[in-house]
Amino acid sequence: MKQHLKFVLIFLFASVFANDVPVLDDLHDAVEQGLAQVESMLDLESQLIAKGLTVDRGTSAHLHSLMVGNSGSQQQKDSALNAVRILAASSHLKNKLNWSADQARRSLPQLSLDKTALKNSCPESITCPSSNVTIKYRPIDGSCHNLFRPDWGKANTPFQRALPNAYSDGVFEPRNSPSSPLKSPRVVSTSFIKPASTTASDFTLMLMTWGQLITHDLTKASSFTSADGKTPQCCNVTSGQPLDREYLHPFCLSIEIPVNDQFYSKYNQTCMSFVRTQIGADYSCSFGHAEQLNSITHWLDGSMIYGSSSSELSDLRLGQGGELKNSTTSDGKELLPLRSSCSDATCYYAGDVRAQENPQLAVVHTVMMREHNRIARALKQLNSLWSEEVLFQETRSIVIAELHHITYTEYLPAMLGEQAMRDYNLNPSATDAYSTYDETTARDPSVWNEFAAAVFRVGHSQVQGTLVLYNASDDQVPDQSFTLSSYFFDASKLPQPGFIDNAIRGLTKQMPLAINAEYTSQLTNYLFKGSNPYGMDLVALNVQRGREHGIPDYNTVRVFCGFPKANTFDDLASEIDQATINSLKNAYDSVDDIDLYIGCLAESAQPVNGSLLGPTGLCVVAKQFAVTKNNDRFFYDVGNQPNSFTMVQLNEIRKTSLARILCDNNNGDVSTMQPKAFRAPDATSNNGRQPCSSIPSINLTAWKDAKASPNKASVVAPSVLLAFIFIPSLLMYIFIIDTQDHQC
Ligand code: HEM
Ligand SMILES: *[C@@H]1O[C@H](CO)[C@@H](O)[C@H](O)[C@H]1NC(C)=O
Ligand SMILES: *[C@@H]1O[C@H](CO)[C@@H](O)[C@H](O)[C@H]1NC(C)=O
Ligand SMILES: *[C@@H]1O[C@H](CO)[C@@H](O)[C@H](O)[C@H]1NC(C)=O
Ligand SMILES: *[C@@H]1O[C@H](CO)[C@@H](O)[C@H](O)[C@H]1NC(C)=O
Ligand SMILES: *[C@@H]1O[C@H](CO)[C@@H](O)[C@H](O)[C@H]1NC(C)=O
Ligand SMILES: *[C@@H]1O[C@H](CO)[C@@H](O)[C@H](O)[C@H]1NC(C)=O
Ligand SMILES: *[C@@H]1O[C@H](CO)[C@@H](O)[C@H](O)[C@H]1NC(C)=O
Ligand SMILES: *[C@@H]1O[C@H](CO)[C@@H](O)[C@H](O)[C@H]1NC(C)=O
Repeated sequence: MKQHLKFVLIFLFASVFANDVPVLDDLHDAVEQGLAQVESMLDLESQLIAKGLTVDRGTSAHLHSLMVGNSGSQQQKDSALNAVRILAASSHLKNKLNWSADQARRSLPQLSLDKTALKNSCPESITCPSSNVTIKYRPIDGSCHNLFRPDWGKANTPFQRALPNAYSDGVFEPRNSPSSPLKSPRVVSTSFIKPASTTASDFTLMLMTWGQLITHDLTKASSFTSADGKTPQCCNVTSGQPLDREYLHPFCLSIEIPVNDQFYSKYNQTCMSFVRTQIGADYSCSFGHAEQLNSITHWLDGSMIYGSSSSELSDLRLGQGGELKNSTTSDGKELLPLRSSCSDATCYYAGDVRAQENPQLAVVHTVMMREHNRIARALKQLNSLWSEEVLFQETRSIVIAELHHITYTEYLPAMLGEQAMRDYNLNPSATDAYSTYDETTARDPSVWNEFAAAVFRVGHSQVQGTLVLYNASDDQVPDQSFTLSSYFFDASKLPQPGFIDNAIRGLTKQMPLAINAEYTSQLTNYLFKGSNPYGMDLVALNVQRGREHGIPDYNTVRVFCGFPKANTFDDLASEIDQATINSLKNAYDSVDDIDLYIGCLAESAQPVNGSLLGPTGLCVVAKQFAVTKNNDRFFYDVGNQPNSFTMVQLNEIRKTSLARILCDNNNGDVSTMQPKAFRAPDATSNNGRQPCSSIPSINLTAWKDAKASPNKASVVAPSVLLAFIFIPSLLMYIFIIDTQDHQC
């Protein structure tokens, strides 16, 4: 009865928009066609693999595939393929019913797959271990943080959207302009981007690298890979031209380079390889549009240090004293562990596959790994009876808390400004106070697709093309300084004597570029060049990524952020300067066409007072970090939870700073540091270099446990414990009701 009513309602709802309404036969037909389409995709795929049309070592596309590669398990690959089946069926249904993009957007998610052959293709709901230990420490895959929604934040679940998708068909086709087709992302890049010149002189390059580090904690959109884990090649690498249609994998979306491109024409390249992001189905088990998967945990939880799965974690743990594995240099310094076999330039690994994307990032990863081991050793000294597991988990929770503290009290204030920190309620609680978390009102913590695929990529504008290293007398070290494009995915410099310390000095002294339309050609022409004379264009990749994720245009997001819709380019004049508006006019035919990422770069040339970002970019970044903080039961300053720090411990964590962590984990030759490591060392602004010993540090004595057992659960109010017994039973009840409701 109930189900019938539901179907009738859907039909009524749908018929408001469509002349045609789906009957069960339509659903069956669409599913059949979808299944057939995926079968022929798999057939084509094996032919392409046989022809060798997958990316080869030595090409930029290969280094790019290391960045966005997909190391998922077979089960994850199977479920991704199921999502493609659901998507193909959705597309067929839309076509069959001749729905508009808007109708598809609205109506497809209302249609359940329950009565179709795809009903078993939806993800299974997650069961949480009932053990109280998992409640105390974050599960490594990000699941079971919120017992009402154990899937929230888990690795390999879809991004959420702040705004409806902008796919041109409402299902999967990249965003396009309703009037004339959008220009190629490479054309947008060459007509909008200018050579690097302006630096952000109040800041240090560490601001850039920390942005990349926390990006790799929050988000990773992995490319689609074929069944055997290979990345399709989307251009003819012999000719540099597009592939003939018959050889194109359906997930290819290569970027067209005009024949007269000032740079690539020298090399006869008219095609830049690009593979679309892997998509996933959600737990609602309905038809719908494509949602890209985040293949790491959505939380700010140190996943780039510890990994996003138990197998990654066990690969990283030493298994003694709660420490992480390391490799040791000839002079006895700890570096990241090395893979036993690996054929890429260098073989360091960490919790995220992008750790050695550039040497600076690898240095900061090394520092964080050392910080973990430093704390683990200190806790062992204090608590000789703690088990390896307790030592590891307590250390991990302290390191994650440090990440939170640095990100919310140092990084975000530098990027967004103090005013925005207040406006968006981003400041952690003050000394001697906790913040609260309410399981029943917490919302979806997933990373916004708009943030990951577009807005936060404005950080790429900060990247410097030449990295300058300094020795202990603060003189440049020319033979260790380097050009970025020679060292993508090459951390071979790290074991050099002095390199880590000279790089730390460089990162806290060299200025980043300002966030604006100016980019280093290291990113726009030479990205991942390897030993080739040319590489890829990161700006073009970002633009294409936004379009293929169905990210709405800049004007639409302006309205979402409370700014007036621009009717003409010149309406942008209060946020964007005239010269920049003119280059937007070169790149786009209409003000409604502007890619979100490009619009945010355009705005940032005139940032909001106190911030490095323009108003729309600031709004999206601030809202994302509010979502990340406010929905996390394990956020470091949350009180009254089994995992909460004691107030004494929390006040110790509040003393940490990035400056002190750099002081504590270098090769022994960094003895001074400015207290605010993201800000230029400058005595006149109260941020002069000073001896490391005078920079406050965390006193781990607060973790000394007299009873030799860190049983914080014992201080939790009985009501909280009761909740942990009742909530799972309540959940079970909801699931039963829910599944009954969905059976039609
Ligand atoms: C040398 C420095 C950097 C390089 C070479 C680099 C390179 C890349 C590349 C190749 C991608 C994938 C592009 C695609 O195919 O879609 C990417 C993604 C991204 N980058 Fe960077 N990046 C750097 C620094 C940064 C910084 C400083 C930030 C922010 C402050 C940042 C934010 C992002 C974001 C948000 C993504 C999307 C991640 C995802 O969801 O998969 N990156 N970057
Ligand atoms: C599909 O819809 C469009 C308008 O949305 C209409 O012009 C066209 O005739 C329709 N096609 C079919 C086969 O109904
Ligand atoms: C790639 O281009 C070369 C040279 O033009 C051509 O001989 C070859 O057939 C092309 N390969 C494919 C798979 O199209
Ligand atoms: C580019 O193509 C032209 C004409 O096909 C050829 O003469 C030239 O040598 C090529 N240049 C490179 C760098 O391959
Ligand atoms: C890591 O460092 C510690 C202490 O410096 C050392 O005992 C250990 O053997 C190192 N090696 C590995 C593989 O973790
Ligand atoms: C730093 O480099 C300068 C110039 O090469 C050199 O004179 C100085 O001795 C170096 N200082 C240290 C501590 O290595
Ligand atoms: C920006 O902030 C500074 C100090 O906070 C203030 O003096 C200045 O007037 C502000 N500028 C604008 C345009 O609001
Ligand atoms: C750390 O805290 C303990 C206990 O409060 C105190 O005895 C000790 O002196 C502190 N250590 C430092 C270095 O401040
Ligand atoms: C977990 O629960 C068990 C049994 O209820 C109890 O003995 C144990 O001490 C608890 N462990 C922690 C860490 O709270």
